[in-house]
Amino acid sequence: MRFKEIQKCPRTRAANCQCESISISEAQGDTIIAQCELEHSDTVKGNILCMQATSGGVTLIKGTITGLEPGEHGFHIHEYGDLSKGCESAGGHYNPDGVDHGNVEEGHVGDLGNITANESGVAEFSIKAERIDLMGDRSIIGRSFVVHSDVDDLGKGGDEESLKTGNAGDRLACGVIVLRGDDND
Ligand code: CU
Ligand code: ZN
Repeated sequence: MRFKEIQKCPRTRAANCQCESISISEAQGDTIIAQCELEHSDTVKGNILCMQATSGGVTLIKGTITGLEPGEHGFHIHEYGDLSKGCESAGGHYNPDGVDHGNVEEGHVGDLGNITANESGVAEFSIKAERIDLMGDRSIIGRSFVVHSDVDDLGKGGDEESLKTGNAGDRLACGVIVLRGDDND
């Protein structure tokens, strides 16, 4: 266990109570790494890694998701790590600033745009997310990734739903974001 002072965190509603306020004082090395394994689907599977320097800056989100329909799929960080009622209990997009839905550059902090599945239904992606933090008050640890059935219109759909969800459709699979290495503690 490299990270101490992990508290209970009602705001993320994560079952394992990892806190969004994480001390890096115990960090070994200069990178913090989080991971997520998607669940709640029989067909859609995936693993995602998030990496950020302990000094801050851009977070790199890399992953592979399989079992998708070919094409684009909305991909977000949702507010809660509560998957007790499947992906629905993950809440809405993580939106600490109370703004409208958008893309990886502006809008909800949790907006990551679309990932693209190839002919075989496999999406491999690498996203540079400048607004995503693994540490501090806005840490995404304990929140969740959700991949959707439809294309995210990035808030440009011209209707009310576009400004909330990007019309990305059903929640196909989801998973809680955890610090790497915490599984076996
Ligand atoms: Cu979503
Ligand atoms: Zn959004």
